[in-house]
Amino acid sequence: MEFKLVIYEKSERIATITLNRPEALNAFSKEVVEEVLHALDDAKNDENVRVVVLTGAGQKAFSAGADIKAMIGMNALKARELSLMGEKLCLALENLEKPVIAALNGYALGGGLEVAMSCDLRIASENSRMGQTEINIGLIPGWGGTQRLTRLVGRGKAKELVLTGKIIDAKVAEQLGIVNMTVPADKFTETVRQLALELAAKAPVALRVSKALINKGADISLDSALALEREGFGVVASTEDLQEGVRAFSEKRKPVFKGK
Ligand code: CAA
Repeated sequence: MEFKLVIYEKSERIATITLNRPEALNAFSKEVVEEVLHALDDAKNDENVRVVVLTGAGQKAFSAGADIKAMIGMNALKARELSLMGEKLCLALENLEKPVIAALNGYALGGGLEVAMSCDLRIASENSRMGQTEINIGLIPGWGGTQRLTRLVGRGKAKELVLTGKIIDAKVAEQLGIVNMTVPADKFTETVRQLALELAAKAPVALRVSKALINKGADISLDSALALEREGFGVVASTEDLQEGVRAFSEKRKPVFKGK
């Protein structure tokens, strides 16, 4: 597939997907979603890729959400398709067996925030701003925002954000736990790279199992989740990478993990 609305680059074991529709503040059209899914598929299958970064082109936005202009005259069936399309993208990010960092370089609104919340870590430039703004156009979040935001910040704050549609700045988002860290704009790109490199150096199987356990465990009973963790612990313990990590610790050197 030829990428037209997304820039897809790979270096230093990091795959970077840049939403590239800055004139529309990187709003997600059907074509943008298809290209991101294609890039994720490549990242999934490329053994050299250890971590994925999702970001937006331009200075102004990560993404201003679903394409509002495509909603003119939208009927219930089309709206359901739009919801399914976003769900598919969010689940692809959430279920990718590699860590995904959302690098929020500007507005993350509506579907933009929902996509970011489906990533594993969110790092925000201090001039970025976020919100579930759908209510302002008479809509509701349709790509998981009512659910993932509630899981991140609790019901009270989720209701405040979804019902008012207000836009908050990155520092407030950090205090609420929506973003993991806020970074000055001039240090943003390098900080994202360093975080991605840090994750790329970890043991891939341990990353994969940790991610899956945290995602799946949140929705089931503690008893069942602990049983899953126990089994996952066994799987990770059987990897060559654990033996490498243990040896490296004893030899006082950095481990070199192979994902085996
Ligand atoms: N869809 C389509 N185009 C969008 C867009 C969107 N979500 N957001 C911005 N744009 C376009 C604008 O229409 C404008 O294009 P034109 O120059 O052709 O008019 C361009 O991007 C720049 O935007 P603005 O001129 O509005 O820039 P601004 O600095 O004045 O305002 C903003 C920035 C506050 C982010 C404002 O653009 C805005 O409120 N955007 C909409 C955000 C929003 O409500 N998103 C939710 C979408 S619904 C959704 O996502 C549903 C879901 O759950 C899946």
